[in-house]
Amino acid sequence: MASSSFMTILTLAFLMLMRTTNAQLSTKFYSSSCPKLFSTVKSTVRSAIQKETRMGASLLRLHFHDCFVNGCDGSLLLDDTSSFTGEKNAVPNKNSARGFNVVDKIKSAVENACPGVVSCADILAIAARDSVTILGGPSWDVKLGRRDTRTASQAAANNSIPPPTRNLNQLVSTFNALGLSTRDLVALSGSHTIGQARCTTFRPRIYKETNLDSSLAQTRQSNCPRTSGSGDNNLAPLDLKSPTSFDNSYFKNLIQNKGLLHSDQQLFNGGSTDSIVRAYSNSYNTFSSDFAKAMIKMGDIKPLTGSNGEIRKNFLTIIWTTHKIEQDPIQQGKQGAPYSGPGYTTRPTWTDPLPKESNCPKTYGSGNNNLAPLDLQSPTVFDNHYYKTLIKNKGLLQSDEQLFDGGSTNATVRAYSKSYDTFSSDCESHDQDGRYQTPHWISWGD
Ligand code: HEM
Ligand SMILES: *[C@@H]1O[C@H](CO)[C@@H](O)[C@H](O)[C@H]1NC(C)=O
Ligand SMILES: *[C@@H]1O[C@H](CO)[C@@H](O)[C@H](O)[C@H]1NC(C)=O
Repeated sequence: MASSSFMTILTLAFLMLMRTTNAQLSTKFYSSSCPKLFSTVKSTVRSAIQKETRMGASLLRLHFHDCFVNGCDGSLLLDDTSSFTGEKNAVPNKNSARGFNVVDKIKSAVENACPGVVSCADILAIAARDSVTILGGPSWDVKLGRRDTRTASQAAANNSIPPPTRNLNQLVSTFNALGLSTRDLVALSGSHTIGQARCTTFRPRIYKETNLDSSLAQTRQSNCPRTSGSGDNNLAPLDLKSPTSFDNSYFKNLIQNKGLLHSDQQLFNGGSTDSIVRAYSNSYNTFSSDFAKAMIKMGDIKPLTGSNGEIRKNFLTIIWTTHKIEQDPIQQGKQGAPYSGPGYTTRPTWTDPLPKESNCPKTYGSGNNNLAPLDLQSPTVFDNHYYKTLIKNKGLLQSDEQLFDGGSTNATVRAYSKSYDTFSSDCESHDQDGRYQTPHWISWGD
């Protein structure tokens, strides 16, 4: 009872951590917490596409590569570190997935508008939609509310993103396994109406396959040498006609045996999807409305919601640092495992030049017991500076920063940061006559 208000804060923090907001994604998820979200993302995407048209394609593909690997959870964006292997260097992404710097730019613009509120996974979904729309394709209401994962899997990225060597039945079963229909497969493959592919992804097709228009084969061979080597990264447009506009010419190409990738031409090769390709090639509207629906379905793949995952705060390229709380590292599993066991908390690197990492090495070992002040400015004074640090995203522990992370306790944190008196009086307690008493747990020094 001496610390009932303090307990209230703890309880609030606990409830916040345990909250199970609706596990469904919703198009209005940020409408009150970040009303400027859509305009912020769109203007950043637009200026990136103005600089380089291909960027629209690259951003669209990032959302696909995020969603197909354990769901749309921002996993693709985690950087490799000495002790953590992410997905960026998995086979389908290495030298191929691009646009991460643009995503960083979007995220930092969004963080400026509404700090700590919007997940990276949601930003990928919005950027994909905006890219398609800006390049002339359909628009749709993006469902939001995904949270970001704290883990990633290179093995899953290697295995879950279909390679261009796949045949129709393999493509169908990969998509079906994720809840996407055969029609969704064909519609989503229409993404290849924009963007570029590297020689290494279409070399076998242009030299060996017979269901390829021979003059296109020749043209592509001129910039993609038969043997692997220096030409591997030479680019060719996935849609030979209009690679920077989101139209249905991809499907018209397929009907003329002008699909660039083996997997593209599989969609029109005498099989069950021929009729869908024909329908899309005849009607842009049929394609674009199916595409929008399929994108929404793809964005629904296994999102993290409620209290799962986190809202990654600063930039997307995150290097995880660890801070020992209380447990013996030996109980946490072997050195080099992702730092997510009990007793550890993960916290993104600070973007401002705080010297913390200099004393807390990225890997387990001799630095585990190095100390850092919980309040960076005045760790030996009982003041309200702790709350000021939270507002600047400088809380040391993840649990600290949770108190100011867009949730129900941020007003309290703000009030305490503005007024030491409010904070200290909430720390005090009343005796039976209504007089304040200094809580017993505060030592004022002796
Ligand atoms: C059906 C299975 C799919 C296969 C086998 C496949 C394969 C590929 C390959 C090999 C590339 C070229 C990558 C490179 O050379 O670096 C590529 C590019 C691309 N893919 Fe796919 N893809 C598939 C589905 C999708 C889906 C579902 C989307 C989006 C919803 C998508 C969007 C894109 C885009 C936009 C590009 C061009 C990226 C750029 O120019 O940076 N793809 N794809
Ligand atoms: C992913 O594939 C590459 C190339 O085969 C391989 O070197 C790498 O070890 C794989 N990653 C995992 C975690 O299996
Ligand atoms: C928390 O902070 C955000 C952004 O500063 C604000 O929009 C929101 O209304 C706050 N929530 C509460 C419950 O105070």
